[in-house]
Amino acid sequence: MTDIKGKVAVITGAGSGIGRALALQLADGGARLALSDMDTLGLAETVRQVEQRGAQVHSQALDVTQREEVFVYADTVAEHFGVVNLVFNNAGIAYTGEVEVMPLKDFERVMDVDFWGVVNGTKAFLPHLIASGDGHLVNISSLFGLLAIPGQSAYNSAKFAVRGFTESLRMEMLAAKHPVEVTCVHPGGIKTAIARNSTAADGYAQQDLATFFDKYLAHTSPEAAARRILKGVAADRGRVLIGLDARALDLFQRVTASGYQRITSLVTDLAMPGGKDKGKDRVRS
Ligand SMILES: NC(=O)c1ccc[n+]([C@@H]2O[C@H](COP(=O)([O-])OP(=O)(O)OC[C@H]3O[C@@H](n4cnc5c(N)ncnc54)[C@H](O)[C@@H]3O)[C@@H](O)[C@H]2O)c1
Repeated sequence: MTDIKGKVAVITGAGSGIGRALALQLADGGARLALSDMDTLGLAETVRQVEQRGAQVHSQALDVTQREEVFVYADTVAEHFGVVNLVFNNAGIAYTGEVEVMPLKDFERVMDVDFWGVVNGTKAFLPHLIASGDGHLVNISSLFGLLAIPGQSAYNSAKFAVRGFTESLRMEMLAAKHPVEVTCVHPGGIKTAIARNSTAADGYAQQDLATFFDKYLAHTSPEAAARRILKGVAADRGRVLIGLDARALDLFQRVTASGYQRITSLVTDLAMPGGKDKGKDRVRS
C-alpha cells in the first residue's frame, strides 16, 4: 500500500507513544482514522491532535482483552466508514518479573493484552481487511519477540507468540491470494511511556527499572518508529525492525544462535539497576 490518502486505518492503544505517532502521521497522509484505547484521556488528546490536522476520526474506549467488545467494535468501524484498509494492533503493556517470583495471574495479564489482544484484533478485523480488496495488517511485536532476556519471560512469551502468529498469517494470506499484506514490527527501545506504565512482580524497584529504561534503553523517538512502520507498510514488508539496537541484537542472536543467552545473561546482570554485586536482588527493593 503506497498511498494512504482516504484509506481507513484502525489503531489500538492510540492514546500514547507509537499509537499516537502513527495516528498523527496517518492523519497527515490523509487517512481516515478509527482510534481506540482503554485510557480515555490519552485517547481524547490524540483525537484532538488528529482533528486539528483535519482528519476524519472515529474514537472509542476499548480494552483489547475484551474479545466480544473487539468483535462488535470491528463491525462498528466497518459500518461507520464502509471499509477498513489498515489495522495496527499496537496496544501493549510491559512487565518485569523472574519466573520464580512471578505470580501466574501477572503472566496471564501480559498474555491477555500483548498476545490475545493482537489475536482478538486480527480475527475481528480480518474479514473486513479481506473485503476491502486492499488490506494491510500490522501487528506490533518487539525486539523481545526476536530474542529473550532475563526477567522478561512473560513479555517475551507474548511477543514471540505475536511473531509466530503474524508470520503464519502472512503466509496464509499469500497462499490464499487474499488481498491482505501482513507485517510484524519489532521495535527496539522507543521513548514512550511504556516503562512508566509498566508493572513488576512484588519486590521489584519498578521506578528504577523505568528510569533505567528511559535513560539508557529508549533511543528512538515514537515519531521515527511510526515513520519506519509506515515505510514498511508502503513496501509491503513482512518484518520491520526499528532502531539500531533492534537490528544489531537481531544479528547478534542469529549469528550466535543459543550462544546469545549466556552473554545476555551476563550483560543484563552487570547493566541492570543495582549492579552485579546485588545479584538477583538487584532490582528488588
Ligand atoms: N516503547 C518500546 O520501547 C517498545 C519496544 C518494543 C515494542 N513496543 C510495543 O509497542 C506497542 C506500543 O507501546 P508504546 O511504547 O507506544 O507504549 P505506551 O505505553 O506509550 O502506549 C501503549 C498504549 O496501549 C494502551 N493499552 C494498554 N493496555 C491496553 C488494553 N488492554 N486495551 C487497550 N489499550 C491498552 C495504553 O493505554 C497506551 O495508551 C506495545 O505493543 C509495546 O509492547 C514498545
